[in-house]
Amino acid sequence: MVSEIRNRIKSSYWLAVLYYLFTDLISRFRIRLGHIDTTSGTVHDSFSVQESVAYVEEVVGDYRRYAGVERFYGRVAEIGPGDNCGAGMLFRHDGCTWVDLVDRFYSRRNMAAQAAIYGALIAAHEGLDATLGSVDLKDEETFGFMKRHYGDSASAEKFFLTHSDYDFIVSRAVFEHLYDPTLALRRMTAALNPGGYLLHKIDLRDHGLFSGSHHELKFLEVPQCLYPWMTSGSGRPNRVLIDSYRGALQTLPLDAKLLITRLAGVGDIEPHQEYDAIPDHQRAKSIRYVQSVRDRFATCFRDVSDEDLSVAGFFLVARKMG
Ligand SMILES: C[S@@+](CC[C@H](N)C(=O)[O-])C[C@H]1O[C@@H](n2cnc3c(N)ncnc32)[C@H](O)[C@@H]1O
Repeated sequence: MVSEIRNRIKSSYWLAVLYYLFTDLISRFRIRLGHIDTTSGTVHDSFSVQESVAYVEEVVGDYRRYAGVERFYGRVAEIGPGDNCGAGMLFRHDGCTWVDLVDRFYSRRNMAAQAAIYGALIAAHEGLDATLGSVDLKDEETFGFMKRHYGDSASAEKFFLTHSDYDFIVSRAVFEHLYDPTLALRRMTAALNPGGYLLHKIDLRDHGLFSGSHHELKFLEVPQCLYPWMTSGSGRPNRVLIDSYRGALQTLPLDAKLLITRLAGVGDIEPHQEYDAIPDHQRAKSIRYVQSVRDRFATCFRDVSDEDLSVAGFFLVARKMG
């Protein structure tokens, strides 16, 4: 019933805008009152234990693969881990000394289900049991090598004002939810050790705000005077596109690569690769798609190139110089 009403609302562009404005306002009030629980980041509820293990392994495997490192080491911060800390366990297994798990919200979770996933991860990774030592899998506070941080002071934008000396700062499907991603990027860079890595997989789609009922770039039509009021209190996608990241990166002491993970009108790009390395026919198809819809985009996207508008996701791989 509730999802039927939501689908009806979504099918009308302006009704959807009003709905998102209203619910974002409610989220702001809830946060002010200290209610930070959300279903954003409740990822593993819909997975079987095997699917969860595969997901965690894929997340950590992608970080290693695209960074070109065999193992994690030193101090790691994972931003927006959501309901499950399996990636943190694998960082520890690789050889990390400390893991901070940093989240503005508390993703609702079933701890018994998470414990079953942790048990399966231990079974699948020889030596993980010994690395973890004596822990209660239902109580993450007993995991002596990591700490979860929640709330406003644990937003990616603020956390690194008071925490530093990281060898890796990583995230998956999180940057698009930040209310100020370029500020977060600057602060993360300052918090990295020389030679440290930023590894962030960023999904630039609308996460179902309008797509489904409308074309996939419909969210870029919402005027900029409204869009932040629909999204920034609730962690909905911020629609900060690749051009803004590129601009911010140019000012930072980072050796950075942007590997494209998805093109609008085309789909996933596997393996992820730099824009110029993507086959011509895929780039051309995506550009044609962008050109067919960009006329109605909000004025703030007028000067963004077709190429940048076509990028629907990318993996930032950056290393701090010096
Ligand atoms: C889509 S979930 C991704 C969860 C997990 N990384 C994964 O791949 O399954 C987005 C996560 O980002 C967190 N988040 C949203 N805004 C944030 C902020 N400003 N700072 C830190 N975390 C944030 C949410 O609470 C949530 O845990």
